[in-house]
This record gives sequence, structure tokens and C-alpha cells, in this order.
Amino acid sequence: MSHAQHRKSSLPILFVAMAAAVVLAAATSGCAPTMSNPAEYAERPISAEAGLEYFSKTGGGDPYATGMAYPVFLALMDIFPDELGKDFPTFEEKFGFYPPPEAKGDPRAVPVGFHVTTDPNSSVPWLVGNCTICHSERLRLPGGDVMVLGMGNKRVRPHEYQNALIRIGLAQNLSDDAVLGAATRHAREQHLIWPELMRGPIVRATLNGLRAYARQRRAELPMWKDAVPGRMATIESFALAVNRFQKEQIKLAPNVGWAKVPDIRSFPFRETFSYDGSGFGSPQALVLEADFLLGARPEWYISHPHIATSMYLFLKGFTRKLPYPGQIDADLAVHGKTAFEKTCAHCHGHYVDHDGEMRVSYKEQVIPKEIVGTDPARVDAVTPSFVSVSNSIPLTRGYTAVRNTGGYVPPVLLDVWARGVLGHAGQWPSIAAMAQPEAERPKTFIVDTEGDYDLTRIGVHYEASPERPLHKGEYFYDGGKPGYHVTGHTFLSDLPAEERRAVMEYLKTI
Ligand code: HEC
Ligand code: HEC
Repeated sequence: MSHAQHRKSSLPILFVAMAAAVVLAAATSGCAPTMSNPAEYAERPISAEAGLEYFSKTGGGDPYATGMAYPVFLALMDIFPDELGKDFPTFEEKFGFYPPPEAKGDPRAVPVGFHVTTDPNSSVPWLVGNCTICHSERLRLPGGDVMVLGMGNKRVRPHEYQNALIRIGLAQNLSDDAVLGAATRHAREQHLIWPELMRGPIVRATLNGLRAYARQRRAELPMWKDAVPGRMATIESFALAVNRFQKEQIKLAPNVGWAKVPDIRSFPFRETFSYDGSGFGSPQALVLEADFLLGARPEWYISHPHIATSMYLFLKGFTRKLPYPGQIDADLAVHGKTAFEKTCAHCHGHYVDHDGEMRVSYKEQVIPKEIVGTDPARVDAVTPSFVSVSNSIPLTRGYTAVRNTGGYVPPVLLDVWARGVLGHAGQWPSIAAMAQPEAERPKTFIVDTEGDYDLTRIGVHYEASPERPLHKGEYFYDGGKPGYHVTGHTFLSDLPAEERRAVMEYLKTI
């Protein structure tokens, strides 16, 4: 099977179809090995602990399809500093990745969500991604910064990153010689293994892969101009990936269905996948689809079946302790619990504190978009054509399927105090904003991703404001744009002011 065919069979089940380090390179060309099998992914007993490692450290694997030779990546940063940043701190700033706290500012440390493995075929260090590129968030709290595993990254810009890679793939000055020279210099400076016989073929295969990827996707460059940090066009990305490889083309909806990266804290209580419950079927296969996000090939999972199963066990048992770090008015919270039970619990579940551990009684349901009243673009993105084409893909048939549910699933609200921005599109910067009557909610606001978490309004650091020049770390949110509307969900804002305050106080305790 040629390399192109490998890709062909893998892409249709990409969940979001954003290849992180995108490069479709085999280590060498011709009849050299097409699979790289580093030690971290070797067969081991299935467990949630192993799943945690895949999720947060090593990623799901398949380095040749999901990653890039580390010296080549360093070379690309050198040659395209405007696209990628000249070093990891600027790279992180550009795309909303976080520096690893344990690196204490070392500019050579790879960002959270990235992992350097070793390709056993060439001994070359290889950069791959993991789920925490998106599913891990830094909170700036009074006691200091904390990295919260599983929380949606609220400033990550996956479409920007993808566009940068596309532009590099199309660049006139992307030359094998220049990359080879810079990669070799980096390898020497950092004492990286970079064997003389392998260098040329690795660089050539990587850049050819990148060029092919860029040619295929150049039409996507203008499509994500309305992307806001922390949000993705999930359904559309999937659809485009499918379209490239199928005769029958998926017809997209007129508006992009923006989705913020969710907190995975709800996963153990869920039966389906996604904000709208559109993905259903074998839960293990659904997790696996999320993993194909990084571009892994089906052959990889056929030879490494333990990975998706362990990942599923980890997600299914996911829990964390993240107590609200500010003052809580206990009496007010008790009052709020009563109101919550009356007004909110039939959708969001009941929460019982059992010796400091929250027990949840929750039954998943879809609330029709007409009733919840929030922006319909994300659910409408699942067009009839999307449903029929996705469900006819042979590889996933009988395992997973999609449907248009017509509404959104009420999220489980554990740790909701830390989740701002809220709503499926991150359309509310804080719980205080969602508690305001629709007409009074901030429609345009500026989020400071470097700012302290707002424990009073319970949300991100933001300023309700029209567009103005932005400072470093800020972005502008325009709720006037389709997909980003701030309306709907008036359940909280319809309560009398006193009860609103009480419910908000209660939300800090769950
Ligand atoms: C590029 C960012 C990105 C990466 C990387 C990523 N995800 Fe996600 N994930 C998302 C977005 C965005 C959604 C929301 C999808 C939707 O409903 O439209 C999501 C949804 C999910 C959900 C559903 C949560 C729920 O309760 O409905 C799970 C579970 C999940 N991802 C797991 C994973 C796993 C496992 C990995 C690693 C293999 C991963 N994700 C990698 C962006 C990402
Ligand atoms: C009829 C069902 C229903 C009721 C009642 C309801 N909600 Fe919701 N809630 C939803 C749905 C559906 C969403 C997701 C909407 C979206 O993302 O577009 C949601 C979203 C939320 C969110 C955002 C969560 C997140 O992770 O971003 C919060 C907070 C919330 N609701 C609080 C409340 C409170 C407090 C009450 C009671 C005052 C309440 N809800 C009543 C259905 C409901």
C-alpha cells in the first residue's frame, strides 16, 4: 500500500481533521518502514492510568502521520518566524499553547500538548501532539497559576496553526536545502541524533508531505477568518476532510458552527459525543475518532488496539478536585441550591456532596434549539448531507454514527465556575453575563487571555467593549456574527435578581 493510500483511508474518520504537526511524512521514501513504533506505545495492560498518559503526555501515537522530525520543526521555526514564531515562547503566544509549568521559563521546553519521542527506525527525536494541546487550561488564580487537565484551552488557535502550516507548504522559499541546513545546525547545538544518511530523506519526505497537504487545503485558508481563540469549526473541518476523499460531497450549512473546546469533566456522565449529542455508537470508537484528530492512520489502531481502550477508560473515569478558590457565602449558596433544584436540575442534574466528593444524578437529553434559544449554527452544521455521507463511510459503519439532534445537551456543571467562557460557542464570558437579561448581555467584548480569572463574575477576564486596538493577549468577540450569538438560555436570567445571585453562589460549590 502506498503512503497516499494510507492517508486516504485515515482521513474520513478524522474527528476534527486538524493535523497538529500535520506532516504526512514517512521517515524515508521508497520502501522504507511506513510505521514508527516508539516504546511509549508498545502493548501494555489496558488501564485508565495508561489512558492518562496517552491523553496528557505521549498522545495516541503514529508519529509519522501525526508528527514531524524535531530538528525539521526547529528549522521551520527558524525560516518562518512570522508564521510559527522564532522560538517556543513566541510559538506559544501565536497559537495559544501554554508553556509547561515545570520548565520554569526554559525557552527550549516544548509547549503543553507536545511530546518529543524517538523514532526507533532512525533514532531521530520526533515531535508529536497529545489531547492537552486543546484539553488543558491555565487558570490565573489568586494563589498562582494552575494548569487544569481536561479543561478546554480558551486561547488555542488550531485554525491559525493549520493556516500557518498551509502557508509554509505553499511558500516559495520552502527549500529542502535551507531546511536541511537549519535542522542540522539545531541538531548539533542541542545534541540531537540526526544521522547523516537519514537527514536528506527525512527532510525531503517531510517537505513533500507538507507541500501536498498545503495544495490540498489552500482553499481552506480564508474559511476560518471569524475563528476566535478557543473555538473551532469542528463539523466543517470533519466535512472538508471527508470531501477531499469522497465522490459525494458534503454540503455545508451557510454559517459556521463554532464550538469552544469543552471541558471533558462531563464525559463520564454522557452517552453521546459533542455539544449536540450528534455523535453516537461505540464509545471506544468515538474516543478513537477524537484521536484521529491528530491524523493517525487506521493501521496504527489496528496494531495498537490497547491505546483507544485505555483512553476511553481514562475519560470514563475522569474526575478532578478543583474547589472554587474564593469566598463562598454558605447561606446564600444553600438558598441557591433550592432554586437550582427547582429551576435547573431537571436539565443539568442533581449534585450531592458526599464527604467532599460530588455525586451526580444526571440523565442526558437534548433540549430543542427553539427551547434553549441559543445560537443554532453549531447544531445546524450537521446538515442532512453531512449525516448521510458520514454514515456511509465504510470504516466507521456499524461502530459510530452521526445524527442531527435539533438541539443542545445541557452540560454537567461540575467545576463550571472555572469554565468561563461559557456556552457551546463560548458566547458568554462569565456566568454573570449569562445571568443578565438577553438584551443587556455584552454583545461585543474583549477577553484578556493573560488576565486573572474573574472569581466575582465567574468567568474570564473581559471588558464589555466595542472593537478597539488590542493589547498583547487580548482578542475581540463579536456576538453579532452568526455562530456567536449571545442570546437564549434565559432560565437563569429570568429568575428574580436575588435568586440569580443565590444560584450563582451555589454554582461555585459544585
Ligand atoms: C485542536 C483541538 C482539540 C484537540 C487536539 C482534541 N480535541 Fe477533543 N474536542 C475539541 C473540540 C473543539 C470539541 C467540541 C466538539 C463539538 O462538539 O463540536 C472536542 C470534544 C471532545 C470531547 C467531547 C466532550 C463532551 O463531553 O462532549 C471529548 C471526550 C474529546 N474531545 C476528547 C479528546 C481526546 C481524547 C483528544 C486526544 C486524542 C482530543 N479530544 C483532542 C478540540 C480538540
Ligand atoms: C430546559 C433545560 C435547561 C434548563 C432548565 C437550564 N439549562 Fe442551563 N443549559 C441548557 C443547555 C441546553 C445548555 C447549553 C446551551 C448552549 O451551549 O448553547 C445550558 C448551558 C448552561 C451553562 C453553560 C455551561 C457550560 O459548560 O458552558 C450554565 C452555566 C447553565 N446552563 C446554568 C443553568 C442554570 C443555573 C439554570 C437554572 C437557573 C439552567 N442552566 C437551566 C439547558 C438548560
